[in-house]
Amino acid sequence: MKSQLWNSKKIVITGGTSGLGKQLAIQFSKTGAKVVVIARRIELLQKLKREYPKIDVIQGDISSKQETYRLAAEIISKLNKVDLLINNASYLGYTPLRLLLDTECEDFEIVLQTNLIGPFRLTKVILANMVLNNEGVVVNISSDAAISSYPTWGSYSVSKSAFDHLTKIWQKEVEGTGVKFYALDPGDMFTPMHLDADPSAKEENLLDPKNVAVDMIKFLEVGHKYNVVRWSAEEWRKVL
Ligand SMILES: NC(=O)c1ccc[n+]([C@@H]2O[C@H](COP(=O)([O-])OP(=O)(O)OC[C@H]3O[C@@H](n4cnc5c(N)ncnc54)[C@H](OP(=O)(O)O)[C@@H]3O)[C@@H](O)[C@H]2O)c1
Repeated sequence: MKSQLWNSKKIVITGGTSGLGKQLAIQFSKTGAKVVVIARRIELLQKLKREYPKIDVIQGDISSKQETYRLAAEIISKLNKVDLLINNASYLGYTPLRLLLDTECEDFEIVLQTNLIGPFRLTKVILANMVLNNEGVVVNISSDAAISSYPTWGSYSVSKSAFDHLTKIWQKEVEGTGVKFYALDPGDMFTPMHLDADPSAKEENLLDPKNVAVDMIKFLEVGHKYNVVRWSAEEWRKVL
């Protein structure tokens, strides 16, 4: 993929070793962007680095309060500034998914730490840098579960719903600074997370995360023309 727009841009992707995040990292790297990926499992980070040496990797857990500042410091030391932050890493909660009444409070807490509070902390640190530079884009990966109340998807849905709302409020608060926020639902993709939620899911019925990544990059080239923050999987594809 070649788009002059992304050449030399500095991009951070959380959860960039699997599924959508990995495909976004690969596709952005092909455009000449400088990509840094954050994830926990060292073996997946090393594999990504071996296969795509231009992609930089940082091991870290975005749900951990203690790690936020170390992660932010490593990002800034590798990139100096950040043009695009993609908060993509996410946790479903214990699988098989269960009713809220059967959900451990501790697991509910980890879902919120991973999908909401961790990204909030990381964004705060990086956003300060963006606001000072008068430019930058933050993409928060959403889900249809943010809107629909699916039984057994409680913790995840609540976290994604709050994440959407956080995104919309943040957009209002940075109006006029040159920074843009999006909440983007990628649609149902054939990824390890989807299989964790539904082990019987069939690849042929789901989106290929590589195609989603390619389309999402195209969307980010035109999305600023619209005064919309939260986009469903159908909406953002319509404007490609
Ligand atoms: N798949 C779908 O059908 C679907 C539908 C709607 C929305 N989404 C959203 O799309 C995004 C990507 O999902 P996916 O299906 O591509 O997921 P995935 O294949 O399971 O990949 C998740 C990535 O996040 C990383 N990660 C998880 N917890 C982390 C943590 N605490 N700290 C740092 N990294 C962490 C994982 O690596 P480590 O485990 O090594 O950390 C991995 O790289 C998510 O936000 C998801 O909610 C997915």
